[in-house]
Amino acid sequence: MDLLKEKIRTEGLALSEEVLKVDSFLNHQIDPLLMTEMGKAFAAYFNKGKKITKVLTIESSGIAVGLTTALELGVPLVFARKKKSLTMSNDLFVSKVYSFTKQEENEITVSKRFISPDDHILLIDDFLAHGEAALGLASIVEQAGATVAGIGIVIEKSFQAGNEKLTKAGYDVYSLARIKSLQQGKVEFLEEELVYE
Ligand code: G4P
Repeated sequence: MDLLKEKIRTEGLALSEEVLKVDSFLNHQIDPLLMTEMGKAFAAYFNKGKKITKVLTIESSGIAVGLTTALELGVPLVFARKKKSLTMSNDLFVSKVYSFTKQEENEITVSKRFISPDDHILLIDDFLAHGEAALGLASIVEQAGATVAGIGIVIEKSFQAGNEKLTKAGYDVYSLARIKSLQQGKVEFLEEELVYE
């Protein structure tokens, strides 16, 4: 997606060979126009043939783009929590998510009231690194007996294992920007393969 790539080129900062800082538009300050366009892009890709009934993301950085996607699809957004809410009962789906980036394990939870077996759920997240967050969300959907309609990612770090893991597990993964490398402070994108007819 060109608008996103342009933002990454002009405002993204490769903090190391593994970590890209994008807090001026994605995960601290948020660019509403970019979120709107990304929501349209996810909806256009995933709304073919399969009827999506809900969007599911994880707090906090997935919420903005999850919301614009849900708005575009005309369905509710649910976000998994990393800390138990005071008002949530014990009626929860729970999944353990290990973060390689932060080297910590989080338990993510979603109330059983918000996912049912007939749901077709689109998972949305801001980054795809090792795929742990997406697999945790998929596990929650599957615990509910619902179906994962696909996985939409804003920024995929293609040099890490996430995409391969999710694709091998049979999920339809669509990333708006795919990063090949972050070497020497430079962001290099994985160009889409050209298709010759
Ligand atoms: P994984 O889910 O694909 O395995 O990724 P990982 O555990 O490595 O990611 C853990 C957290 O780090 C996630 O945020 C993810 O968005 C973030 N992250 C991963 N790689 C990058 C990166 O290159 N740059 C930035 N800025 N963030 C990265 P989180 O803990 O869920 O935090 P938040 O959603 O509250 O912001």
